This record gives sequence, C-alpha cells and structure tokens, in this order.
Amino acid sequence: MRKFCSDLEIERKIDSLLRKMTVEEKAGQLNQVGPSPVGGFEISLEEKQKMLAEGKITEEEFDRFLSEEKWDEQEDDIRTGRVGSFLGVRDARRCNHLQKIAVEQSRLGIPLLFGMDVIHGHRTMFPIPLAESCSWDETLFERTAQAAAVEAAADGIHWTFAPMLDIARDARWGRIAEGAGEDPYLASRYAAAKVRGFQGDDLTDPARILACAKHFIAYGAAIGGRDYNSADISLQTLWEVYMPPFIAACESGVATYMAAFNDLNGIPCSVNSYLLQDVLRDKLGFEGLVVSDAGSIWECIAHGVAADRKDAGKQALIAGIAIDMVSRCYLDFVPDMVLSGEIPEERLDEAVRQVLRLKYAKGLFDQPYTDETLEEKVTLCPEHRALARDAARKSMVLLKNNGILPMKKDCKIAVVGELSDIGSEMLGTWTLYGKGEETVTFIDALKTQNISFVYAPCCGVETPLDRQALQAVIIDADVVIAMVGELRDMSGEASSLSYIGLAGDQDEMLRLIKESNKPLVTVLVNGRPMAVGNAVSYSDAVLEAWHGGTETGNAIVDILFGDYNPSARLTTTFPNASGECPIYYNHVSTGRPTSDVRHSCKYIDSPLKPLYPFGYGLSYTTYTYNNLEVKALEDTLEVIVEVMNDGNMAGEETVQLYVQDVLASRARPVRELKGFKKICLQPGELQKVSLSVPVNSLGFYNDSMEYIVEPGEFKIYVGHDSEAELCQSVVL
Ligand code: NOJ
Repeated sequence: MRKFCSDLEIERKIDSLLRKMTVEEKAGQLNQVGPSPVGGFEISLEEKQKMLAEGKITEEEFDRFLSEEKWDEQEDDIRTGRVGSFLGVRDARRCNHLQKIAVEQSRLGIPLLFGMDVIHGHRTMFPIPLAESCSWDETLFERTAQAAAVEAAADGIHWTFAPMLDIARDARWGRIAEGAGEDPYLASRYAAAKVRGFQGDDLTDPARILACAKHFIAYGAAIGGRDYNSADISLQTLWEVYMPPFIAACESGVATYMAAFNDLNGIPCSVNSYLLQDVLRDKLGFEGLVVSDAGSIWECIAHGVAADRKDAGKQALIAGIAIDMVSRCYLDFVPDMVLSGEIPEERLDEAVRQVLRLKYAKGLFDQPYTDETLEEKVTLCPEHRALARDAARKSMVLLKNNGILPMKKDCKIAVVGELSDIGSEMLGTWTLYGKGEETVTFIDALKTQNISFVYAPCCGVETPLDRQALQAVIIDADVVIAMVGELRDMSGEASSLSYIGLAGDQDEMLRLIKESNKPLVTVLVNGRPMAVGNAVSYSDAVLEAWHGGTETGNAIVDILFGDYNPSARLTTTFPNASGECPIYYNHVSTGRPTSDVRHSCKYIDSPLKPLYPFGYGLSYTTYTYNNLEVKALEDTLEVIVEVMNDGNMAGEETVQLYVQDVLASRARPVRELKGFKKICLQPGELQKVSLSVPVNSLGFYNDSMEYIVEPGEFKIYVGHDSEAELCQSVVL
C-alpha cells in the first residue's frame, strides 16, 4: 500500500473549485458538526444529564430520551455551505437525506463526509482493541477492521476515527482499552493492519471507510494516567516509543490523523506546529488531513495558550489542523480573519484543499449516496458473528491454570457473578451502535451449548455480595466459575482510575469460594490490565476474557471446555498493585537494576516482578524452544529457532524476539520487541522458525536527535514472553 497522496487530475479539479468558493464556504468545509438535540423537551437535556449522573434515570432511559427527541442537523447550514462533515450521524437514509441537501441544494454541491467512532466493530462488536491486540494476529486485525467498515459504510459512514495508536504504559489510564498496548513494534504492525482493513486498496470502494490515526500524539503519556493530562516526555521517547505506530500508519496510506487533546511538553497538540508541520508534513511526508479532537481547538483557551476562540482558531489553522471538530472556532472567525489579512488566504486554501482531496479520494463527488438496502444484509450477518467469536477467543489470555482447564462439560457447575449474564457489559468502551440484547453472555452460551449449570449472580461490580445466595449455589458444585471485573464504562475515555483492583465485594466473593474448598475458575471481564493478585491466589484458573464483544459468552465457553486452545499473549504488563503504574517491560536500564538488594530500583512493598509480564499467556499445551542461531548479514539479523509442541493438543504459539543493545552511548531498554511470528503446531511437532530483524531497527536517537545504530554487542532473546531466557549475542 502506498502513502495517501495527491493526484494531478484531482488537484486541478480542486483548483477550479477553490476559485469559485467564498471564504465563508471555505470555512464551512473545515467545520465538522455533531447533531444536537433541540426543542420540545418536557425536561431539558441538561436536567436529564444531571438525572443520569445522579443515578435517577438509567442509561437506557437516557438513550431512549435522546432517540425520541428531535435532532437539529443544521440543514440550513448545509444548504448555505457552512458544514463540511458530520460527527456521529449514522443511518443510510438519514445520511442520504442530508447529503442530498449538500449536493443538490448548496451553491457548489460539495458532498458531505460522515465520520464516526467505529473503534472495534459497528453493530457486530469485536473485542476491545487492547484485547484484540493480545491475539498478535495481523490477519485478524485486518479482518475485523474490514468487517466493521462494511457495516459502518452500509450505515452511511465514510470515515472512522480509528485506529487509536496511543502507546499506553499506565493501566490507570482508561483509554488503554482502545489501543494495542505498551509496545511500539507490535502497535506498528497493528496500525498497518488496521489501516489496510478499514481502507482497503481502493478508497473509493463503497464497502470501505477512511481511517484516522489518533491521537497525535503522546496522549497515552498522560501524567499519572489521568485522562486529558499533559504529556511531558523527551524527544527521544517521543520518537522511539510514541511515534512508530503513527509512522507505520502513514506508510500504510492512512488518509487522516487526529490531533490529541493533550499538550506535549507544554504546547497543546492542536496548535503544535512542530508536530503538525515539521513532523507530519516535512519528516513523514503526509498529504492527507488532520482533524482536531472534539472541541480541542477551543480547549486551547483552558490550556492557557489561546486568548479566546478566535485566537484558538487562528493558531490551530496556522499550525495545520484542517478540520475543526465541533468547536466552530473556524466557522465563526476564520472568514473575517482571512478578509482582514490576519490569516493568509493560502493557509485557508491549503486546509480546504486537504478536505476536498479527501472527498475526491473517497469518490464522493461521483458517488455521494449510500445504498440504502445494504445495511440489512450486512449488519450482524453470520460471517461477522463467526468472526466476532473467533476474534474473542483469540484475544482471551489464560493467565493461570493448575490443570483444572479444560473442563469437562458434564461436571456440576455453579456460575456466580452478575457479569455472567449482562450482555451490554461485554461490549466495552466505544459501543455506539452495538446492543446488549444481541450479545451472547456466558449464561446464554452455556444454555445454547446444553451445558448444565446452576447460577446465582451473588455479587457484581456495584452490587454487594449476597453470602447466603453464594453458599446456596456453590454447595453441591464440583467447580465454581466466577465472573468478575469491570463495567464497560470503567475504561475508555474519561474513565481513569486511581485503583485498578477488583471493585466492591468481588475479591471477597472469590475468597469465600476458596475458603469453601471448591475448585474455582475465575473469568475476568474488563478493559485494562488489573491488579488482581488476590483473585489469582484464590483461583485454580484465571482467564482474562476482556470486554470481548458480541460473542463473548461463546468464546469463553469454547476456551473453558477445550474447544479452543487459548493462544493470546498480553500486550501490557499486569501490575501487582495500582501504585506500580506506570509499568512496562521495555524500560531503560537503571544504575541499580531491580533485585532483592535494598538499594535497587523497586518498591519495598511489592514483588520484584510484575503480576504478569508483557507477552505472557498460557495454553493447554507447552512449547519448548531450542537451538537458537543468530546470523549477522549485511543489513539484517537472521534468527532461527526450533519450537516444539510437547503437549498433546494442537495450538498456536507466538514466537517473540527481543533485543538488548548491551553497550551504547545512552542507557537503552532492557529488552525491546523486534519481531514475532505466529505458528500452529500439532502435538509433537517441531518447527524451525526464522525471523529477520533489519539492523537499522536497532538504533536510537542521540542528543542531536539523529537516529544512529551503534556497533557493538546485541543480545537476542527468543521465547514465549518478554522474560524469555534463550539468548544469543551478536556483535555488529
Ligand atoms: C473525543 C475522543 O478523544 C476521540 O477519540 C473521538 O474520536 C472524538 N471524541 C469523537 O467522538
């Protein structure tokens, strides 16, 4: 796939359109609006929002209220050319209706773009991105993005605000759920696959949607894991840790970027010309457009770098943001500023050119409308459901197993934990259109697969433990399956936590089950790495099922009863305690490496090692690694290793390759992932696996910000997680 780039013929058409446009129409193209509910409320929207926040109405009641109310889609603004794109409007009929106004009733007939957050599925929900990244499966990353694109496109959407490519090293940050975890290399491969999946090879394909690499940049470095907080990092960390997935997205042809909410070292990303010009345009050669985050231009006032909305709009446009998402700073002020000469018209034209280029690239001038008959055919179709099930089971990580799993279907099973039967809670953050009632819960799956069990909710995230009910339901059981974790809105945007253990009485429920001497299988349903040491110690087996999407229940049953051999591996480190965050495997070597010596880099009240390391995950079989060979060729390292399945079940292993630069002019990470390969092994099968590592991927940025690969010794570790011990040195 090639970079998103301009095309001569299209540029000529844009030139001719630009000549016809007034400054107001130009500013209109840069204006992205969301529909707002208006009028006719018995109780105002604000009042309803307050009631929701105070728990006086449920989320369902609130949603019903919104869907029944009238929406102002700014039809007059479309007609007068004051809207260029929409956020969050879906439904082919509704989109076509609005599109018709733009194409047939506005002076220049420029079509609208409909954008929406299609993050991990549209109506068929796939596992949250963090979960899916644990599959380490690029084909899967691509296929789920493609399926989401098909459903979203049929629903009138042209553009998704995904993939989210923020490296996240702090589990307190709620948005860790939305990305591919803590590692830049894995996240880069994820980025490329997602862009391919959403966009395909041909942007005009009506079954694909435009992608958006977000949030540019270092949003995941929010201090303390507190959402929207500042990112204060070195340029080396920026380029070595946070940039790689964004570079990969650019090289894969991503059409758009979204600027992050945060400031980077003091300059908000939305007005940061170093990021938007020097990095994105000059270094990466990106020719697509950058959209602001929702209201992020306006928020520059709160950051204290813009005096007012006018100033914020001016700074953002000059820095390089083409589309203003919902703050109307461009629409309200840019025309006058251009007419008075405060903003050069060329700058406005450049931004408008980028918007028109995107619309041409998507083919909207030729085919502005969505086929209204498609949605019914593709939404939640059997293929998408099957893919959702496969994706969910490939994403679930077996954390502990003392041999109790896989279970027999005919033992006496007691199921506890409210999460076992709440569909909507399986879907995770950014579920805008997926529905709880279309989701297979664990209880649903047990029933459809004719597995007998007794069930009592007993305890939930917010529901106190009913001890009597617990004793009654587990008393005759051979094994207890407990489902515990987080509600879906405990991760995602604006959902940072200071405590990432199990909330409420959930730990206590597990402790009581342990005390009753019943074998316990714990299934975790959550959106972030959690400090679940107690739960692990009470349990005979622990499956990290995440917010697994529409087919969560079926996937859990497939794994617990051995119809699927778990293969997922963690893409974030699991801490022992909330206070260990941020925690990540590829930290730089310190002068006092972690050890049991008192004056070493550690917490004195926590174990030396994390609860589970990056790359970790069990299977129902075991793999052994032998005969590691490393050959230094001119530009690459060729690494060969023998991997054997020495259990009695076929399985998929992710062979992981880590590198340490032993001696360098800067302190380097203790290990860095530089390659991986997923293989399938039959029982007793041995495979020679070869991986190649480009030598130029082994470098770093020096103090002058030059990328260099220093000669010397490198250690190559290969194995099934980031603590792999099989090692060979090579001198370059
Ligand atoms: C804010 C979020 O940060 C961003 O990820 C999202 O795409 C926009 N809102 C639009 O919903």
